[in-house]
Amino acid sequence: MPLDEPMPPDESVSSSKAASSDSTVHADIQNQEREFHDEHYRKLAEKGHFREVQDEGLDLWHEHCASLMGDLDGKRILDCGTGDGSMSLWLARQGALVDSFDISLEAIRLASGRAKTAGLDSRIRFVQCSFEDLPYENHTFDSAFGSLILHHVDLVLASKELGRILKPGARGVFSENFAFNPFLNFARNHLIGRFGIPRLGTLTEQPLGSEQIEIVRRHLGVDLEWPAVLFFQILDRQVFKYKYRFINRLCRVLDLMIFQIVPLRRFSYRGTMVLTPRG
Ligand SMILES: C[S@@+](CC[C@H](N)C(=O)[O-])C[C@H]1O[C@@H](n2cnc3c(N)ncnc32)[C@H](O)[C@@H]1O
Repeated sequence: MPLDEPMPPDESVSSSKAASSDSTVHADIQNQEREFHDEHYRKLAEKGHFREVQDEGLDLWHEHCASLMGDLDGKRILDCGTGDGSMSLWLARQGALVDSFDISLEAIRLASGRAKTAGLDSRIRFVQCSFEDLPYENHTFDSAFGSLILHHVDLVLASKELGRILKPGARGVFSENFAFNPFLNFARNHLIGRFGIPRLGTLTEQPLGSEQIEIVRRHLGVDLEWPAVLFFQILDRQVFKYKYRFINRLCRVLDLMIFQIVPLRRFSYRGTMVLTPRG
């Protein structure tokens, strides 16, 4: 059903969170996430960010996720933490019936505006809500997708919600930011925000390491896949801001070389997490 306006925030969001998390800390994290992303997406909207950024296809990370989601035509798909809605638009173009949520109302406004511009608003239903308290019925979705969202949320609550709303046998496919690389962890802890190296994300986000994956594994089956390696290219982004073509190429080649050594793939900044409900 098309929605002219994004649905408003659910005022009762925090009650179920308290059951398994420290609710005060958790509510504070959600507020910080919301404020940060509201500001980010408001600025994007002001700059006229309504272009169809993924019209010509998906990037490697999204493409890998899409390949794991199988046939999308006529399927009910959930886009978790949709941001500017690019993936929701792409999924709708493949014939999927998309539900799409984000904690940031500005993100939802931007994404739903883009869906309308693209004539896809009848196939995508946008809602502002938190991953920790989803407004969907049990066993609704054939598949769930998320890009760079799990490392922002309370994993206990989000894992439970994912297990609840996926149909039996369905899976959630997430392109995420991982913490297996000690060099990247050192940089995150000691260099980001200093020496002219910008902090691009929130202060509360937490890349996924073994501890976080174990939390998810208590509630869902977990598989990790590495469609490519991003390591030197992250250094290029943070230090050289992609300014020098020679360094771009060199970093790409170095990452390709790491990719050839299978045990080193998990040192990638980014990878794919495939989650399946238990039972
Ligand atoms: C790094 S952005 C990724 C956006 C988009 N998926 C993409 O790849 O461009 C993370 C998104 O998660 C949303 N978010 C953060 N915490 C959330 C929560 N607890 N529940 C729902 N969305 C959340 C943010 O508002 C933001 O849009």
